Order: sequence, then structure tokens, then C-alpha cells
Amino acid sequence: MIIRKAVMDDVPTILSLVNNYAKDGLMLMKTPYQIYRNIQSFYVCELNQQVVGCCRLNVIWKNLAEVSSLAVSPDFKRQGIGRLLVQKIIEEGKMIGIYEFFTLTYQKAFFERCGFKYVERESLPHKVFGDCLMCPKIDNCDENAYVFKAN
Ligand SMILES: CC(C)(COP(=O)(O)OP(=O)(O)OC[C@H]1O[C@@H](n2cnc3c(N)ncnc32)[C@H](O)[C@@H]1OP(=O)(O)O)[C@@H](O)C(=O)NCCC(=O)NCCS
Repeated sequence: MIIRKAVMDDVPTILSLVNNYAKDGLMLMKTPYQIYRNIQSFYVCELNQQVVGCCRLNVIWKNLAEVSSLAVSPDFKRQGIGRLLVQKIIEEGKMIGIYEFFTLTYQKAFFERCGFKYVERESLPHKVFGDCLMCPKIDNCDENAYVFKAN
């Protein structure tokens, strides 16, 4: 199992991982354009030459990044892949000088197991809510905000 930076050939698989969960309202639907344009911030998990998970380091500001587009194939859940992807995002964020990470999620237990702490959504800076403008749930968001502060 390896975690590596995504390349262009991974885009169809990233789209299918994310959009399969988006259909169920668990994630925000993404277009090919959104993935291609941001490919440098994506990481994937590869197992037996198959991409089985993805995650994005979405830099918001000089000291803050979002763990976003995290998805693990249904057939490979609960094998530690999600945690490895989140750890990679945090490691890469630290390499460029970011020590605070947040996510907006329904996966409370998972992020708690990864060391994230629940915070009120309103405690996050306004600039993190850019993607919310594209979300159909903008006026009745029920996602939870979690924050991780790295050393
Ligand atoms: C959330 C998700 C990425 C987790 O990936 P995963 O590879 O199954 O998670 P891991 O195996 O790395 O789990 C890490 C820990 O969290 C726990 N965990 C994972 N999913 C959990 C769940 N749904 N409920 C309770 N605990 C959970 C695991 O048991 C493990 O606990 P441990 O520390 O005791 O070993 C995956 O379920 C997924 O893709 N979900 C759908 C998309 C989604 O909601 N993404 C998040 C968008 S913010």
C-alpha cells in the first residue's frame, strides 16, 4: 500500500470515488475541471496498482488548510487507508509551514480517531466557507467542524 501524489491518470478514479459518495450526500460533487485544476494538492492511496482512496490538502491561508475530498473505496474501508491519507495531508502541510487543519464532515468518529477535535463551525474563519457557496445545503448545513493542531 503506498500513499503518493496524484497524477493526471488518477483523475477519473478520484472523480468516481468522490462522486459515488456525493450521490449519497456525504460529500460535495466534483467536476473533472475541479480535480484537474487542483491535481497538485491531491494524494491517493494505491494498492496492487489500483487507486483505492484519495484526499486533498486544500490550503486556505498562511496558517490553515482543509483536509478535503477524503474518500476510501467501499471495498477497502476500515483498513487504515483513511488515516494514512489524513496523516499524509498533515505531513505535507507541515512541510510547507501549516500547522492547523480543519475539516467539515459527517465522519465524526473517524476524525476523532485521527486526533481531530470538534469545534463550533462558527469558530472557523469566514474564508473557509468558499466551497459552501457551491453546496445545495448552504442554508441548512449539518456538517461538523473538526480541527487538528500539529506540533
Ligand atoms: C471516512 C473514511 C474516509 C474512513 O476511511 P477508512 O479507511 O475506512 O478509515 P480507517 O480504517 O483509516 O479508520 C481509522 C479509525 O477510524 C475508525 N473509523 C473509521 N470509520 C468509522 C466509522 N464510520 N465509525 C466509527 N469509527 C470509524 C476506524 O475504526 C479506525 O479506528 P482505530 O483508531 O480504532 O483503528 C471512509 O469511511 C469514507 O470514504 N467515507 C465516505 C466518504 C466520506 O464521508 N469522507 C469524508 C469527507 S470529510
